[in-house]
Amino acid sequence: MELSRIFTTFAVCMMLSVNGLHGAFYMREMCDSELQHKGERLYSQYPKYYENDLDCVLVLKTVHDYQKIFIDFDWIDLESHLSGCADYLEIYDGPDTSSPLIKRICGSYRPADFSSSGTSLTLRMVTDSSRRDKGFSLVFTSYHNTNDNHRCNSTSEFQCSNDQCIDAELECDKKTNCRDSSDEWGCPGTWLTIWAIIGIAIAALLLVTCGVMLICACCGMLCFSCIGDKKSSSTEEPATQQEITSINMTTTQPQTVHSYMPPPPAYDQGTYDDSLPPKPQ
Ligand SMILES: *[C@@H]1O[C@H](CO)[C@@H](O)[C@H](O)[C@H]1NC(C)=O
Repeated sequence: MELSRIFTTFAVCMMLSVNGLHGAFYMREMCDSELQHKGERLYSQYPKYYENDLDCVLVLKTVHDYQKIFIDFDWIDLESHLSGCADYLEIYDGPDTSSPLIKRICGSYRPADFSSSGTSLTLRMVTDSSRRDKGFSLVFTSYHNTNDNHRCNSTSEFQCSNDQCIDAELECDKKTNCRDSSDEWGCPGTWLTIWAIIGIAIAALLLVTCGVMLICACCGMLCFSCIGDKKSSSTEEPATQQEITSINMTTTQPQTVHSYMPPPPAYDQGTYDDSLPPKPQ
């Protein structure tokens, strides 16, 4: 359980490090602009830490007017305190910051995914003059539901395993665009990566096993020689005891041999009766 969690985390990290950096937008480079797109990853900035005293607004728009925007966070890292958010990302359900605020995000807990109610979402990132953190990484996707009087267009769209339809090009793009991640299931690259990871894991396991066996063998040999030494030193007295008994055995053996010597042949009393000297009278 714990091991499988570590393994999946490792696998996801490997996959992200191998594939995750293909294509991305950076909010810091698009302040006060609109981004109309089928779906892509969005980072707060590049390369590492966000700036102080930011107030950056970006409006996300769907490609088609029958679509909505789905947001799935990879991770967030925005300065927060017990008293509240010091640096934060606000998300408004509409084309500007006067639209209803869906949520204000800070800290490091990955927020739940969510969707817009219409064709646009407004992101606003605000930072104070102290401390800079990593910001955020999210994937936004233009989608529609099959039950919104729109079936998935089989030539231009991918149908998720749930009722979402997304752009066909988002399938196997190493980014989670469907709410159930079904757009990244069974992708050749993914399987290659997974098999590579499994191969590496098995090789590592074999190496560790061999190492352990080698150590055990060495220990065993050491122990055996130790026990041997101990035996020869600690069993001296019993050995002499045994020697004594064996000596006793050898000394008593001739006696027993004597006692088992066949008795002298018995003479027939009758035949010699006559030869016996006559009893003195
Ligand atoms: C499906 O998408 C293709 C390519 O964008 C388009 O030509 C076609 O009209 C669409 N079909 C439907 C039923 O919307």
